[in-house]
Amino acid sequence: MQNLVLVGFSCSGKSTIGRSLARRLHLRFVDTDRLVEAAAGRSIPQIFQEAGEATFRQLEAEAIASACAGSGQVISTGGGAFVDPGNRARLSRGNLVVHLQVRPETVVQRLRASRGGRPRPLLDGPDPLQRVRELMERRRSSYQQAHVTIVVDGRSTYDLVREIARRWTARQQTARRQVDGGEVMRPTPAGRS
Ligand code: S3P
Repeated sequence: MQNLVLVGFSCSGKSTIGRSLARRLHLRFVDTDRLVEAAAGRSIPQIFQEAGEATFRQLEAEAIASACAGSGQVISTGGGAFVDPGNRARLSRGNLVVHLQVRPETVVQRLRASRGGRPRPLLDGPDPLQRVRELMERRRSSYQQAHVTIVVDGRSTYDLVREIARRWTARQQTARRQVDGGEVMRPTPAGRS
């Protein structure tokens, strides 16, 4: 396993959990949204506003390709990143992909609590709960292709980090045993934990 990848909807905790996981596991932390902003020299809302979503998705695919060229990282992705089949294949190959599953109500609660925080252009609108539900439903089959799904609602960051770290270490040990035993490592079938 080269990288630990976090996917999931906005406000599922990918960045907070990712940063904490990286510290705990002594891995580098990479956030693909921040790579996009650095490459574009603009914030994500500015990219959406000035160049449109298609341009953002192109930059996002490039950021993912660049992150996946490295190893020893916790890679936190934007909420829509795992929907694109090309991104999904790249992120899944040789890495452990963990889906942080969050309820729509929790997303809206967190969006409200972080007003003045990072804006989410795709969630703007008169009825955020409805918007989140629709978008989440459309993305469900993509998120289901992660190797592991963990429900985050009602759990502390500490608890989630401990569980994900444990799963990462177990996968590393299995992979090492397979290499030591001369077995060929096969990727975990998508969607299984
Ligand atoms: C997006 C989620 C955002 C960011 C962009 C698009 C999405 O990241 O990549 O605004 O398509 O859901 P977060 O998941 O960090 O909010």
